[in-house]
Amino acid sequence: MDHFELRDGSLHAEHVPLAAIADVAGTPTYVYSTATIERHARVFRDALDGVESGPEGPLIAFAVKANPNKAVLATLARAGLGADVVSGGELARARAAGVPANKIVFSGVGKTAEEMAQALHEGIFQFNLESEPEAEMLSQVAVALGRVAPVAFRVNPDVNAGTHAKISTGGSEDKFGVPISRVMAAYARAATLPGLKVQGVAVHIGSQLTDLAPSRAAFTRIGALIGELRAAGHDITTADLGGGLGVPYDSAKPLPPSPAVYGAMVREVTAGWNVRLLFEPGRVIVGNAGVLLTRVVRVKQGETQPFVIVDAAMNDLLRPSLYDAWHEIRAVTPSGERFTATIVGPICESGDTFAKRREMDEVKAGDLVVFLTAGAYGATMASTYNSRGLTPEVMVSGHDWAIVRARQTIESLISADSLPEWLEKETVA
Ligand code: LLP
Repeated sequence: MDHFELRDGSLHAEHVPLAAIADVAGTPTYVYSTATIERHARVFRDALDGVESGPEGPLIAFAVKANPNKAVLATLARAGLGADVVSGGELARARAAGVPANKIVFSGVGKTAEEMAQALHEGIFQFNLESEPEAEMLSQVAVALGRVAPVAFRVNPDVNAGTHAKISTGGSEDKFGVPISRVMAAYARAATLPGLKVQGVAVHIGSQLTDLAPSRAAFTRIGALIGELRAAGHDITTADLGGGLGVPYDSAKPLPPSPAVYGAMVREVTAGWNVRLLFEPGRVIVGNAGVLLTRVVRVKQGETQPFVIVDAAMNDLLRPSLYDAWHEIRAVTPSGERFTATIVGPICESGDTFAKRREMDEVKAGDLVVFLTAGAYGATMASTYNSRGLTPEVMVSGHDWAIVRARQTIESLISADSLPEWLEKETVA
């Protein structure tokens, strides 16, 4: 459920007309709904009601990569969520937005010594280690700083998540986690390292999961592993079940499992584990809470179909070109007429296509259009390709709204470059 609705014939974000936002912020721009973000955080938390998770209850660590905007993170921090970070940059953002360090988990296969030191200084809740060499490095960094790093190993359970290959992470050919066959040895070694305190296990098998069976299989393996680890003398007190729950993109497709159904599965599989549970949801919290608002530049008649050329492009929303992802497309002020068109951006690549031969609201030059479900992995994956400044982001709350990231100007893009000395001196003939 979201808070982007037609009121008096025109799409609003909560109580604010999207057309009013476009007038001030320009297009393209991302627009987020506070009420939707808060609702999804609450729904996810409620779905975990009754899971066994020790006195502190589950730690819901929002996957910052899904949407690192400071206003989004601050909204979630106020709703009590922690953060799952995968870089020093994300860690700094989470802290700047007010996420307490003791609610932060650090994932990722390539943490550097500098990033480890930064996280140790902050005093984060847990490092999710993805390899034995990473454990050795973290121990060295921690010892040098006089700290002890709380760690879990992310286990690669070798299950097929049944999602797009580019966002599957739990198969034996994927780079993520410690292969299940090596896990016992990795824990045995980590237990001897002076800079580490082994406290948990972690798993994350992929994103946009629309079937719970692979997660159930992975969690069941983790449950068995917790028993084996304890039998081997490890004090396992946390289990991080990752993120991955899918959201509806295409209304013609079956709905993905709801947080409540996911929660019931978790409750059942984790009963008796006797750990604090951690979760790293990203998309399910912010996906439907954002739209990309864009304006039709012109409609061009091709040989076989009309092309709707909008002022947003693949650099602003990469998902359709990268994963053939479906985003629902709507006119902000629909006329009631429909047509079939291919929606493209201005970038000089055929891949700069949002939808092919889509049946949609009929639009003409100057009309506003939105791509729905763009709150997760939208602005965060943007680039400046074709020298297009990063898109602004707007946050709405009830009748209020604010620009929470300004449009990147071409001047700031150009001034980030500099000429080497030999080109400074030379004059162009
Ligand atoms: N935890 C870890 C360790 C992850 O790698 C991810 C996502 C998450 C949590 C959050 O997963 P979520 O709940 O959002 O599914 N750019 C792609 C998605 C990449 C996901 C990467 N990892 C897309 O646009 O579909």
